[in-house]
Amino acid sequence: MEEKGISQAVIGRLPRYFRYLGELKDEGVERISSQELSGLMGVTASQIRQDFNNFGGFGQQGYGYNVEFLYSEISRILGLDKTHHLIIIGAGNLGQALGNYMNFERRGFILKGIFDKNPALHGKKVREIAVQPMETVEQFVRENNIDIAVLTIPKSSAVEVAEVLVANGIKAIWNFAHVDLHVPEGILVENVHLSDSLMKLSYNLERYSQSKKEQG
Ligand code: NAI
Repeated sequence: MEEKGISQAVIGRLPRYFRYLGELKDEGVERISSQELSGLMGVTASQIRQDFNNFGGFGQQGYGYNVEFLYSEISRILGLDKTHHLIIIGAGNLGQALGNYMNFERRGFILKGIFDKNPALHGKKVREIAVQPMETVEQFVRENNIDIAVLTIPKSSAVEVAEVLVANGIKAIWNFAHVDLHVPEGILVENVHLSDSLMKLSYNLERYSQSKKEQG
């Protein structure tokens, strides 16, 4: 199916569709209309139809969508039908928490290695994977077909580490360090800042309290 120039806003909504469809599939639901999906997800049916139209529509008008088909198409669009090898750099609190989270593997993200510069952590196991010293990372990336590096290190060293990883073949970085990485063309960076999400929550909380007050 041909995908036109799709906006990042639409791409950003696909994982949520994917999650809901996965649940429907697990519950044995075979077909769902945009109205039903709208009711479940709290988005308008027209938004759903518009989003899906970017990819050719996925379904027959009037008959609803085939859940299994829609799930597998969105999975393909998100690249989840492939396996990705990833490594974590920084085996502190966050690196270990991500490493211990099994669910990524169900989506095809296979954790291959964990690295840290702190010798006290070397050999410590995170789900059967021993933390390795940074001195071994370049060779490891070259020899193990690693696509994605997860950066859970302080911002002071993230830029330098990212450069080394890219020079050795890393194609994508899931960046948790609070710094902008300037990478060569063709290398992808996805920044994650949990505090942004918390600030959004704080803003909405503030707005909600304000409107309650105004209502008396
Ligand atoms: P932590 O201090 O528990 O772990 C950091 C680890 O990185 C340590 O084990 C340290 O030895 C290692 N490290 C430092 N420099 C390194 C280098 N050059 N090469 C390899 N390993 C190196 O910290 P925590 O809580 O795990 O957080 C990690 C980073 O992620 C921090 O910079 C923090 O600000 C950031 N963070 C970002 C969040 C986000 O939403 N983006 C949320 C939480 C933390």
